[in-house]
Amino acid sequence: MSLSVSRRLAAVTAFAVAGLFASAAPAALAAPTAVAAAPTPPDIPLANVKAHLSQFSTIAANNGGNRAHGRAGYKASIDYVKAKLDAAGFTTTLQTFTTSGATGYNLIADWPGGDPNSVLMAGAHLDSVSSGAGINDNGSGSAAVLETALAVSRAGLQPTKHLRFGWWGAEELGLIGSKYYVNNLPTAERAKFAGYLNFDMIGSPNPGYFVYDDDPTIEQTFKNYFSGIGVPTEIETEGDGRSDHASFKNVGIPVGGLFTGASNTKTSAQAQKWGGTAGQSFDRCYHSSCDNTANISDTALDRNTDAAAYAIWTLGASTPVPPGPSFENTADVNIPDSPAAAVSSPITVSGVAGNAPATTKVDVNIVHTYRGDLVVDLVAPDGTVYNLHNRSGGSADNIVASYTVNASSEVANGVWNLRVRDTAAQDIGYINSWKITF
Ligand code: TRP
Ligand code: ZN
Ligand code: CA
Repeated sequence: MSLSVSRRLAAVTAFAVAGLFASAAPAALAAPTAVAAAPTPPDIPLANVKAHLSQFSTIAANNGGNRAHGRAGYKASIDYVKAKLDAAGFTTTLQTFTTSGATGYNLIADWPGGDPNSVLMAGAHLDSVSSGAGINDNGSGSAAVLETALAVSRAGLQPTKHLRFGWWGAEELGLIGSKYYVNNLPTAERAKFAGYLNFDMIGSPNPGYFVYDDDPTIEQTFKNYFSGIGVPTEIETEGDGRSDHASFKNVGIPVGGLFTGASNTKTSAQAQKWGGTAGQSFDRCYHSSCDNTANISDTALDRNTDAAAYAIWTLGASTPVPPGPSFENTADVNIPDSPAAAVSSPITVSGVAGNAPATTKVDVNIVHTYRGDLVVDLVAPDGTVYNLHNRSGGSADNIVASYTVNASSEVANGVWNLRVRDTAAQDIGYINSWKITF
């Protein structure tokens, strides 16, 4: 036994009968106040989204009919989006790269605030093919991401996660811009991504409602939105990896996204559930000159933009479940050397409705010179025993540990005990404190 332990034990004896001190202050039982209720996701005005599409259409018309990589219409599209974001308080970054003998641009917009170590990003490719204005492919995704970002600004959203928005160049040449962005992220930055949401072709004129089945949480978030508005969805299968999310997925970042279909044909079963025309492509103008402002389903664009906002609000604001009330006993309880009966430190729990959770947390602080001597149990009010520690750890001293106990079959209120028994002679110690959190 060390000197310090022996002195401590002597000092403790005088008030060992002082009994328990449970920190069950009424405030601990009140509804958690540190966590604000998640704000309600907005209904994004379709007219705003369509106004961006009409700007993209004008930009193409003024610049040779397209917004393709290396063409004036692409840079004009970037300038348009960047000006909107700058005016709304975003921190924007223009990233340049070179491909096919021309300068390409990615635009990154950061919303100030949120956890810098947990980044939620939404993105869309901004380039068209050279044959047309690219209004569905991908003015639709670009406009939806832009209007979602502007809605974040209008709401003054203060999400838990750090929000980032991106518009990619040269997607049509093989995901060049998004690959460039991801390849130039330091490994430490990649690790900070909670997720990447992709929006490419979300206003197809004969639409399907396709959700990427990559990250389950992101997928479920989108599905929840659509089930809430009574619209059935299917898994996206028209060429997995054919858009910018693949660049993120390839380096292990969780991804998800939405899609309303390209050149594939809508089946009669799909027309039954979604309306539209069976036997016809989801987008008959895919990569054609007719991909203009008439090549849009307003309903699909509206629903998918609202789904984007729902996902950003929900995934961006999700807060870890706050801990429930905590009760603590800080009175020292001497653990006599073996052979001796077990000793217990009680905590009286009151004011907690129902049963204890499956994740009942028990923090144990035992001062001892040989933890391998000890058997430590949590004893529920009805006498059920949950073993926390059974002589493990050998000659190491002290047990300062946190245990998660599935106590869901126990009524929370009542007297809980931390019971400790010393099973081998020589080393001794005391229960310093313990805490139970529901
Ligand atoms: N990205 C493709 C394009 O721009 C369109 C596309 C085809 C797509 N299959 C997809 C987009 C699947 C998202 C998901 O031409
Ligand atoms: Zn395309
Ligand atoms: Ca002992």
